[in-house]
This record gives sequence, structure tokens and C-alpha cells, in this order.
Amino acid sequence: MIADIPHDHPLLVQFREDPYPLYRYLHAAAPVQWSDVLDAWTLARYTDVVEALTDPRFSADRTAEQDQGFTVAKSMLVSDPPDHTRLRALVQKAFTPRMVEQLRPRIGSIVRELIDRIATRGGPFDIITDLAYPLPVVVIAELLGVPPEDRETFRDWSADLAASLDPLVSAELAQRATQSRDGLHTYLRGIIAERRRAPRSDLISALVAVEERGEILSEPELAVMCTLLLIAGHETTVNLIGNGMLALLRHPEQLSLLRDRPELIGTAVEELLRYDGPVARTARTPSEDVTIRDITIPKGEIVMPFIAAADRDPSQFSDPDRLDITRTENRHIAFGWGIHFCLGAPLARVEGQIAIDTLVRRMPKLALAVARPEYRLSLTLRGLVALPVSF
Ligand code: HEM
Repeated sequence: MIADIPHDHPLLVQFREDPYPLYRYLHAAAPVQWSDVLDAWTLARYTDVVEALTDPRFSADRTAEQDQGFTVAKSMLVSDPPDHTRLRALVQKAFTPRMVEQLRPRIGSIVRELIDRIATRGGPFDIITDLAYPLPVVVIAELLGVPPEDRETFRDWSADLAASLDPLVSAELAQRATQSRDGLHTYLRGIIAERRRAPRSDLISALVAVEERGEILSEPELAVMCTLLLIAGHETTVNLIGNGMLALLRHPEQLSLLRDRPELIGTAVEELLRYDGPVARTARTPSEDVTIRDITIPKGEIVMPFIAAADRDPSQFSDPDRLDITRTENRHIAFGWGIHFCLGAPLARVEGQIAIDTLVRRMPKLALAVARPEYRLSLTLRGLVALPVSF
């Protein structure tokens, strides 16, 4: 959808800083609602959001929402079975918890290197630029076989594409996103061609080998798959670390609990994902009329399950607005649910755990350097522009 709403409109600024009062209102008064602004139905309650993510009548194909969408091929994220099953199976093995465990030492050394650099430089720093962003970017680039030193090149493309996931996209951004998508595709096609000539032990080479066997993966699908993985690795884990550290810094008693009991890092990261997760909402399109809470959503209209609202639903979580890093009853849906459950979840978890654990232990005096850090404009991906801190 194309819309021109000024980003500095006070209501939007307020919503970006704290969307949770609105979600509380939706839980209570309008769990299923048509929104003229979003041109879509919104779902706010946990059970309804989970239903939309698991009921096969809700298609993940949202090319109607993003009419600048991929015309040559669709990624798994926006495909339904059987295409979804085929595409996901090709990369599933590279992202299992067992595979990701093998990356743990490398992730640890990237984190140490980044934090050493901050410590040597001294003075205040920005958690986003200095740690949260470079960590997942280097990890996914190494996994795919994209030279990490090219990251300045694909950084802006990735940001434009992520921003274009928003329900409210200006005409200017929509156009830039198309250019960025083309730029990224051309760049990745170059890497794909290199790996075709000289395969290495990276994921792109493995996918090229599958594509060359024919029928299972087409060449456009290969480029789209690499784009999805690269962007997913750029735009999400950064916000787990950023939103997570902000939440801890705003709850000093939870931060010191984690410092005293580092073994809590597992439940802590799950709680940070639930409390202020990186993906606020997704989208589905019913392939037939579907009735939820006596409201019939007509076939073909866009439905936005609000993950961030569901994860604060009082009928699912006790005291949902309280940050409690020891919470164990926590079936949050920050990574989605059902067949599209985040492929990168095991990787994101390990990256988030190592980054947050190391930061908390190495910097006992870590403190916010601004009272109100600025949020990025997206309504889909929730994250900070910068998180300035002192230590
Ligand atoms: C904390 C970080 C992350 C969060 C919160 C997150 C969140 C999500 C969510 C909510 C979905 C489901 C979307 C839907 O159902 O419409 C998803 C899907 C996906 N994510 Fe992540 N993600 C994260 C990190 C990553 C990483 C690091 C990768 C890189 C490999 C990744 C790759 C994917 C892929 C490929 C899908 C599509 C899966 C499918 O359609 O079957 N994600 N993610």
C-alpha cells in the first residue's frame, strides 16, 4: 500500500516509542478490526494470531499487499505449500540447532572482537552500530559465502528492502526499494556465477549445486532465496540485541539479576523476544471467507496478525507487561508459528545470547546515554536507529 503520512506526526512518534498501550486497547476492545489506515484487518489476541499463522486457509502469499513484489519468483516466506515445502527443505538443514551449535565458537569470537574494539576505543558507544548490526551481518555473510567486506555495498539495499515491508510506504520509498532489490539481485547473481565456476563450502555453492541438478530450484528462485536469507540476517537479530539491551537497561533489577546469574541467559533472551520483539506483525490473505470472533473476513482481503500484540496478551501470559527474565511459561511467537516458523530462530537465539551475555558481563557499568532513543520508521520491524550507552 502506498501512503504519505508524515513520519514525524506526533501520534506516529508516540506509537513507535510505545505501541503497547494501543495493543492493550485492541486486546480488550477490538481484537479483530478493519483498519482504514492499514487497509487491512488487524488481529491482536494470541489465539487469533496463532490461528492465522496455522490455519491453511490463510495464505502467506502477500503479493497483493506489496504489488512491487517479486514477479520472477517468490521466496518461501510468501509461498504456500507445495512450493513452500520444497524451498524450505533446501536450506532447513543448514539452520538446525545442531548446525548452529557448530557456529558458536565463531560467533563468540566475532562478539569478543567487536567488544574489544569498543573497550580499546573507550568512551560512549552505540550498541547498534558497534555490535548489534555487524554481528548478524558478518555471520550470515560468512554462512552464505558473501564477502563480509562488501557489507557497505548491500547495507543500504537491505535497509530499503526491509523498510518497504511496511504497510505504509511512500511512493518514493517504494521506488527506491525496487531499485535496491534489483541492485541486490544483480550483486548476488554475480556471486552465484562465481560459485558456479569455482564452488566453495558455503551455502550459495550448495544451492547452486541443487539448481544445477535441475527441476528442484530455478535460477530466479535461487537469487530470491539468497536475498531473503541475507536480508533476514540483516534486519532482525540486530533488533533482538538492541530492543533487548534497551529493555534490560530500563529494568536495572533484571539487568543485575542477569549479571549475578548468567545461567539465566536462555530464558532471558526468550523473555526479551516476547517483551519487545523485532517483528511486530506479519500478513496473510484468506483463500476463502474466514470467521473469527463472529467477524467474517472476506476472501482475498489482507489480514495482519500482530505478533507483538499477541505476545502481550493477558489471556496467554501472566502479567504480560512485566519484564521477567526468569519467566518459564513463555510460548511467545516472536519467531512466528506453524510452517513459516522462523528458519533462522536457532541462529538468532545463539547470536542474541552470546552478544547480550558478553556485553552484560564485560561492562558492569553499562548505562543509557539518552533517555529516549529514536526508533526506526518501520511498523513491521521494530528497532532502534541507535542505542547510545556509556560503560
Ligand atoms: C531475532 C531475530 C529474528 C526474528 C524475531 C525473526 C522473526 C521471524 C518471523 C516472525 C517469521 C515468520 C513470518 C511469517 O510467518 O510471516 C520469520 C520467518 C523467517 N525467518 Fe526469521 N527472524 C529472525 C532472525 C532470522 C535470521 C537470522 C534468519 C536468517 C537465516 C531468518 C530467516 C527467516 C526465514 C528464511 C523465514 C521464512 C520461513 C518460512 O517462510 O518458512 N530469520 N522470522
